Amino acid sequence: MADVILETHGLSKHFGGLKAVENVSIAVEEGDIFGLIGPNGAGKTTLQNVVAGTYPPTKGRVVFQGRDVTGFKPHQICRAGISRTYQIVRSFPRLTALENVMVGAVFGARLPEGAARAKARELLDFVDFPLDPDTPANALNTMQLKRVEMAKALATGCRLLFLDEVAAGLTPSELNVIIALIRRIRDGGVTILIVEHLMKLIMEVCSRIAVLCFGELLAVDVPQAVARDERVAKAYLGDGFVLE
Ligand SMILES: Nc1ncnc2c1ncn2[C@@H]1O[C@H](COP(=O)(O)OP(=O)(O)OP(=O)(O)O)[C@@H](O)[C@H]1O
Ligand SMILES: [Mg+2]
Repeated sequence: MADVILETHGLSKHFGGLKAVENVSIAVEEGDIFGLIGPNGAGKTTLQNVVAGTYPPTKGRVVFQGRDVTGFKPHQICRAGISRTYQIVRSFPRLTALENVMVGAVFGARLPEGAARAKARELLDFVDFPLDPDTPANALNTMQLKRVEMAKALATGCRLLFLDEVAAGLTPSELNVIIALIRRIRDGGVTILIVEHLMKLIMEVCSRIAVLCFGELLAVDVPQAVARDERVAKAYLGDGFVLE
């Protein structure tokens, strides 16, 4: 059995009276592509935010590579080896594609400028960035920006990568490209935790899936079992439906 890279123990995040994440315990194995699904407002982004240090949990613990990282600040989490892309793409529009990726290498991996530039070039190749690396970010289309975002996250030297709705806004052929890219990143030795609404992507790439509903963990299982789980279908669609 592979080592567990990330564990949450009874993790909760409340916003006033709202239990956005409630008592969630999951274990992500090294080398997994682990899916996090659930209806809108289920707490998926909040769970990623709490693990990534955007805010401290209300209760519970986060353990990364055997080390308690509960309450770490975002830059400490990044240095520990967790990086992320955002549901809303956040590039620096006035920087070039290359400079955007260098930000990850300089501030995450703390590489000096020359090494950061070389690393950024290598990663833009790795994600098949199709244009001149010196193209300004504000001239890129959605798919090109997603590639840059992924390269920037990888440039931190992370061991665990959070992807939040990377497939949003993509065409079916772009979706296949993203699926291949996600697998390539995993094969390069980075564990992936992916939040996604698009079932095709989740079912194809994930080895395990956790389902959140109103902040609580409803199920954790392999994709086939989650797709057949009546509680999961009900959470999404009401009675009488199956996911697939
Ligand atoms: N900073 C915040 N302050 C107050 N409430 C918040 C905050 N962030 C999230 N929430 C609330 O917490 C709940 C969970 O939100 P979250 O964004 O984690 O859901 P999600 O599963 O990512 O949804 P989606 O699929 O729509 O992205 C929602 O009710 C949301 O309104
Ligand atoms: Mg979200």
